[in-house]
Amino acid sequence: MDYSKVKEAAIEASGFSYAPYSKFHVGAAIQCKDGSIFLGCNVENRSYGLTICAERSAVFNAIGSGKKDFTAVAIFSPDSEFPLPPCGACRQVISEFCDAGVPVFFSGKDKNFKMLLVKELYPFDSLHDLKKE
Ligand code: THU
Repeated sequence: MDYSKVKEAAIEASGFSYAPYSKFHVGAAIQCKDGSIFLGCNVENRSYGLTICAERSAVFNAIGSGKKDFTAVAIFSPDSEFPLPPCGACRQVISEFCDAGVPVFFSGKDKNFKMLLVKELYPFDSLHDLKKE
């Protein structure tokens, strides 16, 4: 499968990031089985704890648009020196909606994307076990 579009979408989404406090801009994108792609970015708030990460923003954007079946996730930050994987909270949210074998691509400013599967980012997921039953 060609994952260049979802990676490009994450790069585009980082341009929409609202991060006046951390100055750390993040974009994410999630690709659906029908080929459509939904964007997300981190959206900060002066009450810092209300901030949402780019990854959860992308997932909620897709779910809120009626999508259910996903084939890839991508994350990009122009402000990271290293490939930026999702935080723990986002790993759990991604695993809620993406199968264990879905690839998650993540990159820092060099645009050299690493890849881990959902099951590698979030192993022994009880939800995936429950869904099997
Ligand atoms: N952030 C993300 O959006 N995704 C990540 O994977 C790491 C952190 C955001 C949250 C906050 O707005 C800023 O980056 C600094 O932590």
